[in-house]
Amino acid sequence: MSGATDHFLVRGGARLSGAVRVSGAKNSVLKLMAASLLAEGTTVLGNVPRILDVAVMGEVLRRLGCEVVREGSSVRITVPERPGHEADYDLVRRIRASIAVLGPLVARCGEAKVALPGGDAIGSRGLDMHVAGLVKLGATVDSEHGYLIARAPRLSGAAVWLDFPSVGATENLLMAATLAKGTTVIDNAAREPEIVDLCQMLVQMGALIDGVGSSTLTVEGVETLSPVQHETVPDRIVAGTWAVAAVMTRGAVTVLGSRPEHLDMPLEKLTQAGATVTVVDDGFHVEMDRRPSAVDVVTLPYPGFATDFQPLFLGLNTIAEGTSMITENVFESRWMFVDELVRLGAEVRTDGHHAVVRGREQLSGAPVTAHDIRAGAGLVLAGLVADGVTEVGDVHHIDRGYAGFVDTLVALGADVQRISVAEPDWLD
Ligand code: EPZ
Repeated sequence: MSGATDHFLVRGGARLSGAVRVSGAKNSVLKLMAASLLAEGTTVLGNVPRILDVAVMGEVLRRLGCEVVREGSSVRITVPERPGHEADYDLVRRIRASIAVLGPLVARCGEAKVALPGGDAIGSRGLDMHVAGLVKLGATVDSEHGYLIARAPRLSGAAVWLDFPSVGATENLLMAATLAKGTTVIDNAAREPEIVDLCQMLVQMGALIDGVGSSTLTVEGVETLSPVQHETVPDRIVAGTWAVAAVMTRGAVTVLGSRPEHLDMPLEKLTQAGATVTVVDDGFHVEMDRRPSAVDVVTLPYPGFATDFQPLFLGLNTIAEGTSMITENVFESRWMFVDELVRLGAEVRTDGHHAVVRGREQLSGAPVTAHDIRAGAGLVLAGLVADGVTEVGDVHHIDRGYAGFVDTLVALGADVQRISVAEPDWLD
């Protein structure tokens, strides 16, 4: 993986202040890029973050025969009449979200061959609901030599009930259903803002979708879809990261280009921790003037508390006044970074789905390793409130989801430095 030896040097102590602007959501734009495969021609996505995952997804699409060009904050994707149908292991293992091409490819080409992504640092992350749903829509799905191979001359609409409101399965099935013959009903669907964004783009493309934003999506299949221009929904997780950073450092930060209504739960938790949160034009402002109070957190599918905020709030609780309980219900092993926090002096014990955190006045800087995007961000925030220097390794994980992470922190007054190595030129 490129950038694997990059690391950040964080010197704790600064109080963050100023304004930041967030761009489009990683977890939306990757699926919007996959959705572009559903229509021949040129789709233009706006508000696209400059992050590693977008570059890798661009390469997935290029290898499927698409032309992918970045123009400022937009990405222009030109999809041929007959795209390829194979996404190889080399790319899929870098970016799990490339599984999102499965539904569009089988719907559009009648066949898709996508490498199985393998395990990652936050759990086993099965694909059973993606597969069962596609089978319901009439596809045959085989697993051979590390690949999932789905085939269907034309998918046909069906009723699909998801065991759990999986974000990825909802998206894959939704995209597949847009070109299926007849009506598909996806019940117990996920309803994250990124899924609403995908629905809105699909509707613009000519898809017929009812129930957008609800847990029952009804899709009336159409013969063809058309390319569109679409602005990516703002990244609520990045916005929330800056909010947590402000609270942890007892700072004052305005987060622009964001939609506070997508952050109701985390902003409410920050208020409980003692922060003042104010909605402003085009975003929100967070201010904190004391040590945060401990807050309990239970992760759930949207509109519940997002699992992607869990490592950030766990970090916040390590320096809070009091003891908190964090319950992780979405991913089975999102605790890997707890051992890293313990290296910074945090007092955390985990048991199954729960972590108990006893807040300390201050952490103490040490070398640590980022294992995934949010854990990496959480470690940097912890470094901001640690005594001395925290060296965060494997920051390519952070690059996957945060554009200009260090520059943003420095602009807010933090003392953070990146120690870099060169990257291949296609990663732009
Ligand atoms: C998406 O992952 C996000 N990734 C994740 O963000 C996010 O944490 C997650 O949704 C939950 O909000 C992208 O959008 C690219 P799921 P996804 O399918 O789609 C199980 C980040 O840091 N499951 O909702 O993979 C699965 O194992 C990342 O930005 C099955 O068992 O999440 C997990 O326990 C990390 N079988 C749970 O459901 C299936 O077929 C939720 O997974 C599908 C999922």
